[in-house]
Amino acid sequence: MENKSPNNAHDSKKRKRVDGAQNPRSQVQSQSPLAVKKQKLLQSRQNLPIWSRQRDIRNRLREHDILVLSGETGSGKSTQLPQFLLAESWCTGKIAVTQPRRVAAISLARRVAEEMGSPLGSSSPASKVGYSVRFDDNTSPGTKIKYLTEGMLLQEMLRDGTLSQYSCVVVDEVHERSVDVDLLLGFLKQLLESGKRRKPLKIVVMSATADVESLSEFFSTPMTKPEVSGDTSNGTVHGDDEEFNGFSDSEQPTPVEKKQVSTCRVEGRQYPVKLHYLDNPTEDVVDAALQRILHLHCKEPMPGDILVFMTGQEIIQGLQKLVEELAGNLPSEYPRLLVLPLFAALPQAAQQRIFERAPPNTRKVILSTNIAETSVTVPGVRYVVDTGKAKIKQYRNRLGLESLLVKPISKSSADQRKGRAGREAAGQCFRLYTQQSYGELEKDTKPEILRCDLSNAVLKMKARGVEDVLSFPFLTPPNREAMEKALLQLLLLGTLNEDGKINDIGRKVARLPLTPTLGRIVLEAARPERDCLLEVIDIIACLSVENIFQPTDTEEAREKALEARSQLHRRQGDHLTLLAAVQAYASETSDRKRWATDHLISHRAMQNVMNVRKQLIAQCKPLSPNPTIRSTTDEATQENILKCFLKGYHSNNIARLCPDKTYKTFAGNQTVAIHPSSVLFGRKVEAVIYNEFVFTTKAYARGVSAIQLKWLEDVWGSS
Ligand code: CDP
Repeated sequence: MENKSPNNAHDSKKRKRVDGAQNPRSQVQSQSPLAVKKQKLLQSRQNLPIWSRQRDIRNRLREHDILVLSGETGSGKSTQLPQFLLAESWCTGKIAVTQPRRVAAISLARRVAEEMGSPLGSSSPASKVGYSVRFDDNTSPGTKIKYLTEGMLLQEMLRDGTLSQYSCVVVDEVHERSVDVDLLLGFLKQLLESGKRRKPLKIVVMSATADVESLSEFFSTPMTKPEVSGDTSNGTVHGDDEEFNGFSDSEQPTPVEKKQVSTCRVEGRQYPVKLHYLDNPTEDVVDAALQRILHLHCKEPMPGDILVFMTGQEIIQGLQKLVEELAGNLPSEYPRLLVLPLFAALPQAAQQRIFERAPPNTRKVILSTNIAETSVTVPGVRYVVDTGKAKIKQYRNRLGLESLLVKPISKSSADQRKGRAGREAAGQCFRLYTQQSYGELEKDTKPEILRCDLSNAVLKMKARGVEDVLSFPFLTPPNREAMEKALLQLLLLGTLNEDGKINDIGRKVARLPLTPTLGRIVLEAARPERDCLLEVIDIIACLSVENIFQPTDTEEAREKALEARSQLHRRQGDHLTLLAAVQAYASETSDRKRWATDHLISHRAMQNVMNVRKQLIAQCKPLSPNPTIRSTTDEATQENILKCFLKGYHSNNIARLCPDKTYKTFAGNQTVAIHPSSVLFGRKVEAVIYNEFVFTTKAYARGVSAIQLKWLEDVWGSS
């Protein structure tokens, strides 16, 4: 069944003609290496299914403001469509292309810069392509195509309500239905219907699945009643378009006619994929994956890389170790195995490696989270191994808690995963679950807005002047109870007034690239009574990156780590311990890498902390232009730092010691134990605050510090 012809509208004749016209081998041989590379890139672009649709797509956008474009992952939407539009006469401004994930925004910008022969981002004023993700803005004044995360475009909309610098917004990967994309779609719809833009704004909504109808219906049906207030007091006017922060009561938009939405589908290439299920459910999915990888490697022909879908970083790194160990012991007649992990927290350079072809006589095995499901296309894959699980964000209304839980994926996710095996040739997909289990999966993954904490989303809406958030144009309206919980949460944080209107604190928090809770903590730290902004930023920088401490999965490793880090440990708990680590690292002038190794701390994570710290300090300048540098051994400072966290966590992330010597949460009265990774593990103090509530074998609090109950009055009594 190898190399069968594609089974759907794949126009091979047309491609042959393009190839033939562009690529006489002799012509390529006489060119410089750079020219050959450029020629090769052009050929691969011309081979993409979207290439032949260029004229059609451009025509549609001349006639319509909104295009809904669906097409299989890998058909060329994200890389080619923005380039098609550059030459259009309406395209005088920039093109924004939003992505749900940082990894996709960065790797797409790299790829498109390469295809256009342009330097990337801020490296040169001549650069035409850049990206902007949280804590990393890599654009130049000349940037024409800007890949950015949905969250970053939402932030930009708070500053420039009409998106005046853009001619086009491409909302990519809509099928992922992140909460930010749902907000973005609502804001864009409001903006188009407001008639506030002087120059046209084109919107392209792209999806890997064929959900075009609901999207087209969403944009074409005018909002019946604008449900937003006139809170336009935040933000300044940019460019030549008027500032827009929703509709104002005094200035109702002129009645809008039904928008004409163009819809278009690009047929992808799909070769047959042979499906295999387990006969019986497995107890140990990691072992099942390991066996399958080795079996495939030893029995199946080359070329053909293996893509394995797993749940998260830890389990991926564990499997990587096992595969590498066993592969190292294979007889020499077998090809080599190159194991590449892929997860969101992986540094950029390591992520880029998945796009490179395997060296000769080597098979790649990519161990990935659901990033590789649609966000990135890994070339060379012929075999997919699917564990059938993913980490999914889940909000539990009753507890007021958001946690990442390992859950079965949906049928549509399983089908996307399977499809990854048949992009370049016929392939095989091994599902590490039974056919019956597949039959029991839900049809689609629920949009995130139905299963996450909405306080961030509601604050963003409020900051953009949406008063009645319950009537916001949502593609899928969220649960009313969750919305009310979010409003209450924001009220308790002091970001909204009693009447539900956003206040000055709320506006400042909304502009920080942090959750409302962390934003509120930063604001508290800037107050003259607390005056510990720099110290709190150091801790928050640590919370914004991957774990700085090297994982300790065995008792032996734990003891080694305790010893190595003993000077950094603070008896008050993990927050001040993080601060001690950042400050010790920052003051290390000779060899930071060595210092990190000696303390069993990740140098890479620390470099990220330093970067985030720098950016947060810059962004907090308006809050406190000359913050004091505090001595962190001073008890009053330590108390103030913890009080800032107490302010932001409010009653959500606090537990007190009960007479039976267990900790119980303030909200929900749940029993919770201190996680073994905490410096407070095994200690009993009157009360604790914690960063995270996680369920593994039982309920644990992670990132824990001791507090005194008598502080509550001081902290919660003040505004
Ligand atoms: O958006 P869509 O999934 O339809 O496709 P795309 O992201 O534009 O990718 C088209 C092709 O470009 C992929 O199949 C890869 O071969 C290539 N690509 C790449 O090599 N490196 C990237 N960072 C992104 C895409």
